[in-house]
Amino acid sequence: MLGDTLLIALYALIGAVAAGLGGAVVLRLLRRRSVALSLAVVAAVTIAAMLGGTLLVAWAMLLSDHDLWVVTTVCAMAAVVSLVVALVLGRSVVRGSRALAEATRALGDEGSFTPPSAAPTAELAELSRQLAATSAKLTASRERERALEASRRELVAWISHDLRTPLAGLRAMTEALEDGMVEDPAVYHTRIGAEVERMSDMVSDLFELSRIQAGVLALSPTRMSVYDLVGDAIAGADALAREHKVRLVDDGVEPVPVEVDGREMSRVLANLLVNAIRRTPADSTVAVSARRDADSVVLSVTDGCGGIPPEDLPRVFDTGWRGTHARTPPAGAGLGLAIVRGIVEAHRGQAAVRNVPGGCRFEVRLPAAS
Ligand SMILES: Nc1ncnc2c1ncn2[C@@H]1O[C@H](COP(=O)(O)OP(=O)(O)O)[C@@H](O)[C@H]1O
Ligand SMILES: [Mg+2]
Repeated sequence: MLGDTLLIALYALIGAVAAGLGGAVVLRLLRRRSVALSLAVVAAVTIAAMLGGTLLVAWAMLLSDHDLWVVTTVCAMAAVVSLVVALVLGRSVVRGSRALAEATRALGDEGSFTPPSAAPTAELAELSRQLAATSAKLTASRERERALEASRRELVAWISHDLRTPLAGLRAMTEALEDGMVEDPAVYHTRIGAEVERMSDMVSDLFELSRIQAGVLALSPTRMSVYDLVGDAIAGADALAREHKVRLVDDGVEPVPVEVDGREMSRVLANLLVNAIRRTPADSTVAVSARRDADSVVLSVTDGCGGIPPEDLPRVFDTGWRGTHARTPPAGAGLGLAIVRGIVEAHRGQAAVRNVPGGCRFEVRLPAAS
């Protein structure tokens, strides 16, 4: 009895292995074909394995003719049903894949991916989710690029305008000088010198900004005390402050060590001080402070400008932005604060602005050197 059972198991195994090998070869040949076909082959292999084993057992005369007939009929029914099920499932997977492929093509063509309503398998659902995430990222980066492009175009327009006005003035003055129509040429020479100075400042700002935006700003950080940094900046802005009758006061500067590029950081402070002095009425003060806050240093410049309209606050650091209210006639090209932010961020710091009673305060936070 046990011997029969073992023999039956052996024959069934041989039949099944033969069917399985045949199925493996067919599946290999169908590798690049539809998954529906592969599913049908898998169903067919299962039935063939059963049938193969049964026929071998019958051939070894371990099965009566009647039993063989019964088993064969059962197998035939099972074959029909399982093939139908395989084809139905296969079609649904194929349809799901096609819908996904269609949606993905749209992602490439017009940049938007609408995930198909229901994915037939967990893997396709996951793929669809990943594609939706990729699509969202792509949209965001396209959006960013568009905004950047727009601001670049705007900047070029502003700059050309800003250069054209002083150039026209320079041309008028040199023509007047050439014609000998000028009573006091020294005045003209001074004005020409000032205009040229202003324009070369602007070009140098543009150059700096382009280096920042191209990411090629090479910093050479050295260890220094913010005390010296702020002291030098205040000394440098002294003449402008006198000219505007603005008092520059030291509002507490702690000697915290930082590791920064001295030249670039001086430019940051100079830009902030020049802005503050220009926008503070005569006989008011501009206060500078530097204090340690946990493991960073906060440098601040507080002016008496009367405050920046709250809706403008998020834009003051934008390239080319220079305010909307008429009280402050544009003094520069709107590049100063964009340069400030660029340099500060290159130092792994942050630049921010907020209103305080009577004015506004620009703050630069830098990592303190240990
Ligand atoms: N200290 C300040 N007080 C008030 N407004 C300021 C101050 N600094 C900057 N702003 C506003 O931000 C704008 C951009 O500043 P900035 O980038 O330095 O450009 P610019 O000085 O060439 O106008 C200024 O035009 C001004 O409207
Ligand atoms: Mg400025």
